[in-house]
Amino acid sequence: MQLGPLSLSSPFLLAPMAGVSEEPFRVLARELGAGLAPTELVSAAGLVRASARTAKYLRHADSERPFVVQLFGGEPESMARAALLAKDAGADALDINLGCPVPKVTKSGAGSALLADPGRAAAIVRACREATGLPVSAKLRSGWDARHLTFLEVAGALEEAGVAFVALHPRTRAQGYSGRADWTLIAKLRRALRRTPVVGNGDVASPSSARAMIEETGCDAVMVGRAALGNPWIFRELSGGAPPDREERRSLVLRHFDAHLAFVGRELPAVREFRRHFGWYSRGLEGSAAFRCQVNQLSGASEVRRLAERFFAAAEARPRDGDALPDLAIAYG
Ligand SMILES: Cc1cc2nc3c(=O)[nH]c(=O)nc-3n(C[C@H](O)[C@H](O)[C@H](O)COP(=O)(O)O)c2cc1C
Repeated sequence: MQLGPLSLSSPFLLAPMAGVSEEPFRVLARELGAGLAPTELVSAAGLVRASARTAKYLRHADSERPFVVQLFGGEPESMARAALLAKDAGADALDINLGCPVPKVTKSGAGSALLADPGRAAAIVRACREATGLPVSAKLRSGWDARHLTFLEVAGALEEAGVAFVALHPRTRAQGYSGRADWTLIAKLRRALRRTPVVGNGDVASPSSARAMIEETGCDAVMVGRAALGNPWIFRELSGGAPPDREERRSLVLRHFDAHLAFVGRELPAVREFRRHFGWYSRGLEGSAAFRCQVNQLSGASEVRRLAERFFAAAEARPRDGDALPDLAIAYG
């Protein structure tokens, strides 16, 4: 399918997720059918400073085409410089974060702070396009708070600036993850934009809710975040495929773990970081609470691997819990 200038294998996209959308997970999501899997938000200032930590976010596999880097920053000039660095590192397209509610990000005029400044948001898209010649998309929340729902005005300005597509998570910055994503706002945006594709995002938990979003909003593609945590197979299911059986789950979890170890390069931080993936992969499996408790006490990669191998080789899936999404005590973009 075509999403603006991008040719994609599927209209179901992995949402950018900080601490999750790293190369090993993106590769699996793409293999299982995600049409795109952007990086998590990457600091433009960090890229320009050439911080080693930031550079890690640009690592990607050859199979990740088109490779999309999501940038955050409030200054068109430094965003353009960062965009060029991302292009040099292999980016095929860029995405601008206009949704992150974290104060450290909004303080500098970036993330959801840009929802209050459509002119600056448009200047950023224009500057990144002109610096790189790459497609530049944007991901928005609906506004700063309920009294300032600015997404239509912002998206209109982005359209004038030549944005490739706009993804909308229809909650305000103030809302965090409370309530439900208001899909009627996605429908409004779809009707308002003349030539820009709209990607719907928010609370899609299953193939049926993805279908409902498309029917209710007319969106051109669907972006899935929390429902993919511990469940990259959701992209296969969204395209009509089957959920994994026990053996497939076991082998993919171990493959993800091994790839994460190689990606991080240091055993202890990699093992610690992967605990949350084990938590998500084991959701809804018999004995998951005991497994999590045990795995969280281990720090050697080979003992963790042995335990995970045993658990996932034996664990039966309990009947699925409707459309429940992982409950996260965090409030990202
Ligand atoms: C752990 C986590 C990290 C996130 N990090 C980012 C991010 O880096 N950039 C961004 O635009 N959105 C980020 N988000 C927001 C998601 O991309 C998405 O908009 C949101 O989770 C709603 O979609 P969902 O209901 O399918 O989860 C994050 C969400 C979660 C749960």
